[in-house]
Amino acid sequence: MKENISVVPLLFKNNLKLSAKMFYGFFKMGKARFFPKHDYNYDHFKDLALVYFKLTPACNLRCVMCGQFGDKGVMKECVGEEIKKVLPMETWKKFIDEIAPQRPVTYIWGGEPFLYKDLIPLARYMVEKGLFVSVNTNGTLMEKYAEEIVRDKWSTIFVSLDAFRDVNDEMRGAGSYDKVIEGFKAINREKKKQKSKIPLLGIVTVVTNKNYLYLDALAEASREYDIDLHMFNLGTYTNDSIVAEQRRFMLEKFDTDIDCLEAYNTGYNLGIDGKKLHDILQNIHKKDYGHPMITVPALNPEKIHTYYADLQTPVRNHCIVPWCQANVNYNGDVHFCADYPDYILGNITQKPFREILNGDRANRFRKTIHQCDGGLFPGCLRCYQNMLFGNKIKGY
Ligand SMILES: C[S@@+](CC[C@H](N)C(=O)[O-])C[C@H]1O[C@@H](n2cnc3c(N)ncnc32)[C@H](O)[C@@H]1O
Ligand code: SF4
Repeated sequence: MKENISVVPLLFKNNLKLSAKMFYGFFKMGKARFFPKHDYNYDHFKDLALVYFKLTPACNLRCVMCGQFGDKGVMKECVGEEIKKVLPMETWKKFIDEIAPQRPVTYIWGGEPFLYKDLIPLARYMVEKGLFVSVNTNGTLMEKYAEEIVRDKWSTIFVSLDAFRDVNDEMRGAGSYDKVIEGFKAINREKKKQKSKIPLLGIVTVVTNKNYLYLDALAEASREYDIDLHMFNLGTYTNDSIVAEQRRFMLEKFDTDIDCLEAYNTGYNLGIDGKKLHDILQNIHKKDYGHPMITVPALNPEKIHTYYADLQTPVRNHCIVPWCQANVNYNGDVHFCADYPDYILGNITQKPFREILNGDRANRFRKTIHQCDGGLFPGCLRCYQNMLFGNKIKGY
């Protein structure tokens, strides 16, 4: 399986400006990996490589495995109340003014980011400030905005699509597949019309026990979509004992109870035959679909069964996130862990972001994770950020 980094030159070969921005982010992440600063007086703001903007908690879909709106999603009951806390565009703009000089890569997500009413002007502002702007969307609301998206020069769009039509719709909701394809067509039409190579279009597929046998059908269909990348995300999963251990740990070390990890205790990992999945992925990786394919994490073939059947076994370690990344939530709360926003570092409506990143709560988090075995908390074992940026454990 191909390593994540291997596709970067392929993706950006036609766009020097974008590749420079992306490489600067990767350079800072490399620095965080090899020279993490454990000193309390260090200015971590200088090393900021990637910032997640979680613009809204709202979503128009209910994908079964989703930690927010899936079977065990944490937002399902409270989204009505949470929407009231969404930041206005002016607050985001001030935040962007603060971070732009550090030139981090930015990643807009949600909920569904197209439900944030000012997504288009906000993304335009980010591009004007010189940022690499990537957006992760379910793609079902994209068609209508194609002209503006291309005009405003978004860098990349990662669209979630989990299988070919019926299986995808079983996971993500009836009609969602066709809406995404209409979105791809509209963006590609506009790219031609406006003679633009960006945004680059990518598919992100989450592997579950519902779709893993049918991944090749989606890969085949993707030949027609005129996309730039297809990424298979092996999925975030956990179990009762990992959740219990993480809860005990977070209460003891941070006096913080946790809600979010349990949402990934869905069981959609159960029954995945690692050998079969490996063969399917290997066949896909061997073929040329006209765009690069990657799997995250890129595992040693013999270890795919471990990933799903033995969630207790780490496959990546030494998380670098607290040294170079942060997630800002729809209400302004800052967290290191985008998918597990339990421990709050501060809020951008109350303090400058730089102070939050260098504050006691952030340093306490860094110090504690640094002292843990393998540089991970008990609940980090299949965290997507660590699968992308963690250190490969020998053999996995
Ligand atoms: C929570 S969604 C938010 C953005 C947007 N609504 C979307 O679906 O792309 C972010 C990404 O997480 C993926 N995702 C959902 N459930 C997941 C899981 N259990 N493990 C890993 N990724 C998951 C989604 O498919 C999507 O690519
Ligand atoms: S579209 Fe995204 S946020 Fe909405 S339910 Fe699906 S994965 Fe979750």
